[in-house]
Amino acid sequence: NKVVLAYSGGLDTSVIVKWLQETYDCEVVTFTADIGQGEEVEPAREKAKGLGVKEIYIEDLREEFARDYVFPMFRANTVYEGEYLLGTSIARPLIARRLVEIANETGADAIAHGATGKGNDQVRFELGAYALKPGIKVIAPWREWDLNSRQKLLDYCDHHGIPVEKQQGKSPYSMDANLLHISYEGEVLEDPWAQAEDDMWRWSVSPEQAPDEPTILDVSYENGDIVAINGERMKPHEVLSYLNRVAGDNGIGRIDIVENRYVGMKSRGCYETPGGTVMLKAHRAIESITLDREVAHLKDSIMPRYAEVVYNGYWWAPERRAMQALIDETQGPVNGDVRLKLYKGNVEVLGRRSEDSLFDEKVATFEEDEGAYDQKDAEGFIKLNALRLRIAASKGRSL
Ligand code: ARG
Ligand code: SIN
Repeated sequence: NKVVLAYSGGLDTSVIVKWLQETYDCEVVTFTADIGQGEEVEPAREKAKGLGVKEIYIEDLREEFARDYVFPMFRANTVYEGEYLLGTSIARPLIARRLVEIANETGADAIAHGATGKGNDQVRFELGAYALKPGIKVIAPWREWDLNSRQKLLDYCDHHGIPVEKQQGKSPYSMDANLLHISYEGEVLEDPWAQAEDDMWRWSVSPEQAPDEPTILDVSYENGDIVAINGERMKPHEVLSYLNRVAGDNGIGRIDIVENRYVGMKSRGCYETPGGTVMLKAHRAIESITLDREVAHLKDSIMPRYAEVVYNGYWWAPERRAMQALIDETQGPVNGDVRLKLYKGNVEVLGRRSEDSLFDEKVATFEEDEGAYDQKDAEGFIKLNALRLRIAASKGRSL
């Protein structure tokens, strides 16, 4: 028997390789992906070899991640619990899918991951895997073993000859990074009143340290997706890298929240999503001139539901696909340009324009409108809409 492991090359997943080989007497296939976490993935090859792994998958999935997961999610203006841009959540369905595909290719009957039994990630990996391959077996070592402390992991390495690199300047936080965000949890953050240290943040400067000169950006949309910045065509993953850099330099995209995990607990996390924060603002701006009011409101009404579905790990479920179909259907006219100003932690919209704009200056003007809108029509509109209020009032029901 054979198991495909989501392998980072780090200490925890290296221990998992050995533990799987020992505990299940199985062949381990490792899968390591570059999804923009900003660390080299190639070193995972030598480490896996050193652990006796014969089938090693190392893949660059940045383009696919941005194009097929992040961008579709941003068409919905997705935000979980009013703040979280779902940076970790959105990467899990892609990893789940590759794990299953690699299991099919290598004839493995199981997958394994390094997520703990207390978090959302286990749910997302496993719901994804079951949705794509109903008979798959899942092994989650953190739910099974008793290596529940740093020291026990180190002792295990010592005992099994797993090399432990001295990691200088290693952050004490539980972190997760990809093209969309970087997250920090645990340690001092476990007290929701304790303030995060300023040197925790890695992708952005604090607004106080940001330059005194603003950065002006033009972003161009086609069918709801950014296709160019300052007139230069870019692929989705290039858009994200570019925006992360300029927005991070301007102190944009930090949040510090307490969120509700699907497994039932509250958890405190700090996230940096510089590019995503800009994308959300810009997308709302271009939609504001190109979408019909009722379509825009309909999208907005399903957005919290869509966010919950992504957060909880149901990317590959029929309700997500159904909502996505509706959202994508609305994006045909979402074309044009947005001009933005990035300045000391803020994103401001300076202007928006579109060939598909529904904004009619003749109608909207405060000046003479040459018959485009008859103000007298408003009287009947208001009276009929007031009818039920007046009836209620006449029956003494207004307060
Ligand atoms: N709490 C966030 C979420 O559920 C971030 C999780 C970070 N995951 C990690 N393995 N460090 O999406
Ligand atoms: C983990 O427990 O593996 C990280 C946190 C989470 O999944 O929510």
